[in-house]
Amino acid sequence: MASYHKLPAAVNARLRLWQHIIYLQPVCLRATLCSMKALLLNGSPNAAGNTYHALSIVAEAMNAAGVETEIVQIGAAAVQGCIGCRQCLKTGRCGMKDKLYSYIYDQLDSIDGIVIGSPTYFAGPNGSLCALLDRLYYSAGAKLAYKPGATVAVARRGGASTTLDRLNKYITYNNQPLVSSFYWNMIYGMRPGEVQQDAEGVQTLCHLGQNMAWVMQCLAAGPKHPQAPSPRAWTHFIR
Ligand SMILES: Cc1cc2nc3c(=O)[nH]c(=O)nc-3n(C[C@H](O)[C@H](O)[C@H](O)COP(=O)(O)O)c2cc1C
Repeated sequence: MASYHKLPAAVNARLRLWQHIIYLQPVCLRATLCSMKALLLNGSPNAAGNTYHALSIVAEAMNAAGVETEIVQIGAAAVQGCIGCRQCLKTGRCGMKDKLYSYIYDQLDSIDGIVIGSPTYFAGPNGSLCALLDRLYYSAGAKLAYKPGATVAVARRGGASTTLDRLNKYITYNNQPLVSSFYWNMIYGMRPGEVQQDAEGVQTLCHLGQNMAWVMQCLAAGPKHPQAPSPRAWTHFIR
């Protein structure tokens, strides 16, 4: 540590203050980056199916970059869809408080990013996943705003693009930076684990995980986001 004892007291004090700021800033930044967490939502009813394997590839890459991850399964039980009661517009929370919704909702404040994965069902995401996401994003989208999001589609043969398109609608409705890889985030397989054989898909998702971690860390280190216009225009196509 430098010695300032020969300088006037006021200069000494100011130098010490700068020394603390310079020393503490990287420590605080490192602490922020190390404690970052992302939620990975498995939209397949198969807990250990291809979507789980696909998300695990993303998670491993994020972990290697210092980001904590948790894969949440939507499971095989029926998921309640949105009933359009609009109670959430008053309370900020869906009126139907099932365990799956509540578990995810309660984490939204503490996570820094989200990855949504789905099997392709008739060229779209699994209906149960959409049922959950409709409620989550309508009621609690503000909690995810400005946090990076990515989507992953798993397919046997066709329809992954339209699955991604639908899933991306949640992220891009919501002021979330949509994170990409060097190819569209799709991977192919039928039987559980088969996606591991899709070498290009594996590489695409691995790089997606790296990009997610990078964007999350860049955003944490950068300036605060700009505020959206307020009050917001809301015209329902009535002119
Ligand atoms: C109801 C249903 C519809 C499906 N539709 C498609 C489809 O449109 N295109 C496709 O490539 N695969 C389709 N598949 C296959 C799954 O997307 C594929 O097997 C995927 O790997 C399953 O992921 P999981 O193991 O995570 O559940 C369908 C499967 C089911 C059960």
